[in-house]
Amino acid sequence: MDVSTKLVVGNWKMNGSLAGNAELLGEVTKSAGLGCEVAVCAPFPYLMQVLQILPPRSGIALGAQNVSEFDDGAYTGEVSARMLSDLGCSYVIVGHSERRSLFHEDDGTVGRKTRAALRAGLLPIVCVGETSAERNDGITLEVVTRQLDAVAAEIDGLDVDQIVLAYEPIWAIGSGLTATAEQVGEVHASIRTWTQRVFGSEVTTKILYGGSVKPGNAAELFAVPNVDGGLIGGASLVARDFLAICHAA
Ligand code: G3P
Repeated sequence: MDVSTKLVVGNWKMNGSLAGNAELLGEVTKSAGLGCEVAVCAPFPYLMQVLQILPPRSGIALGAQNVSEFDDGAYTGEVSARMLSDLGCSYVIVGHSERRSLFHEDDGTVGRKTRAALRAGLLPIVCVGETSAERNDGITLEVVTRQLDAVAAEIDGLDVDQIVLAYEPIWAIGSGLTATAEQVGEVHASIRTWTQRVFGSEVTTKILYGGSVKPGNAAELFAVPNVDGGLIGGASLVARDFLAICHAA
């Protein structure tokens, strides 16, 4: 994967409306030449609308926010990786902290979802990160490594070059508290070391930062070594802010 170009991904979370999506994307797609790779991860009901709105040459890719670990079948309410790929999704967020905490997705589930995404030809954006308690206890790197090891255990033989990783300190998500450049640099360097050891030094994995990325801090965060872009929540719902973050990449 080419890490020379930053990747900025908008995670709309459970937000949006047909009218609001059209307005937001209308503004975002007006801006030519964003200078980075961009993806928008919309809620399932809006994926087809977003795909139809994004001009083919806009350079903006479609992503989903979750995926089933299972293949098609008797899994009421689930959405398979094959369906997302069939629809035209390129990316899928896997293991977001909100899925882990609110919907009880453990490390093994995240690993199996990553496997399902890879097998369907999707680019999984695998989220890892620590709670404030874990950071205060000084075990951030151990937590992140444990989460990454659980993914590696499920994807043997699959194309790891397709994996994107996202470090999202849970205490920075939606809080307005952003990790410092030093904190981000330490964890991203540790993740890079892990990818080189586990995936191989020839694999260049994009490592995104997420957690209160805003127009005012994006440039500093994107300048931190081993930060290959951002996973943007709240700011991705405001065209002006999302564009400013993309231009900072
Ligand atoms: O997935 C990105 C999200 O968790 C970050 O949210 O609002 O802090 O940018 P926010």
